[in-house]
Amino acid sequence: MGQIIAIANQKGGVGKTTTAVNLAVSLAVLENSTLVVDLDPQANCTSSLGYNAREVRPSVYEVIIGKSRPEDILCKNEEVPHLDLLPANINLVGAEVELISIRDREQLLKKSLIGLTDNYDYVIIDCPPSLGLLTVNALTAADSVIIPVQVEYFALEGLGLLLNTIKIVRGGLNPDLEISGVLLTLYDSRLRLSKQVAAEVKRYFGNQVFKTIIHRNVTVAEAPSFGKPVLLHSATSTGARNYLALAREMMQRISAISTKPPDFASPSNT
Ligand SMILES: Nc1ncnc2c1ncn2[C@@H]1O[C@H](COP(=O)(O)OP(=O)(O)OP(=O)(O)O)[C@@H](O)[C@H]1O
Ligand SMILES: [Mg+2]
Repeated sequence: MGQIIAIANQKGGVGKTTTAVNLAVSLAVLENSTLVVDLDPQANCTSSLGYNAREVRPSVYEVIIGKSRPEDILCKNEEVPHLDLLPANINLVGAEVELISIRDREQLLKKSLIGLTDNYDYVIIDCPPSLGLLTVNALTAADSVIIPVQVEYFALEGLGLLLNTIKIVRGGLNPDLEISGVLLTLYDSRLRLSKQVAAEVKRYFGNQVFKTIIHRNVTVAEAPSFGKPVLLHSATSTGARNYLALAREMMQRISAISTKPPDFASPSNT
């Protein structure tokens, strides 16, 4: 069963989409079969992976409301083997309002992904910059959440609201939801501010903070305009190296959580 990881922070522009795309590509390059679910009406994941969101029809929206099967809208990435995308389009904008009257509205994504997630090692969900129904659907479907935090003034501001939402989801909809880590993004090693804020976030979150730090890197910012993840745009860039390191750290963290004693009762593979 694949590990489902939501990338969430209601603050805009902190690197959620950049992380969803480049972590997913890095996991796929490390030979993990990986699915990206674009749950943001801005559809930035979809376009960053080279698809025209205006032409995507149907999208994850139709999957959530039960009008399409996820298998039927999957986009296979031609350049990266092991990488698939459930694309978004602007229709998702209506979802926050339209889903309100639907029963079990917080569990629609989880239900629609059942079966599909078994085909993957990792499923990465990109959330919109809000704590609305779409983000709650992602947190309900996920095994864990990565919280990207931009290293700047007010970095911690607003995180209390997100942590409270995670607590509420744990209290009912998804008791097993873990925080797989807090990820420092847009770090600029030339700035004393970056070091100060990183230290402050580490003081607050302790070892929940990923050791890998995502540095501010122009290659990361320009890659989406080529419809490419950074690893394909420039494999030797700081951004590509940072996201590969994050993928490795993520794999280690997850195998540490899920390492179970051997099951001696199971039949041998001979
Ligand atoms: N490591 C980085 N180096 C340079 N630019 C970056 C980096 N990470 C993200 N950016 C740029 O910062 C902007 C915001 O990033 P991104 O879209 O990933 O944030 P987001 O949290 O998904 O935003 P939103 O909340 O609007 O969905 C984008 O223009 C992106 O290209
Ligand atoms: Mg985004």
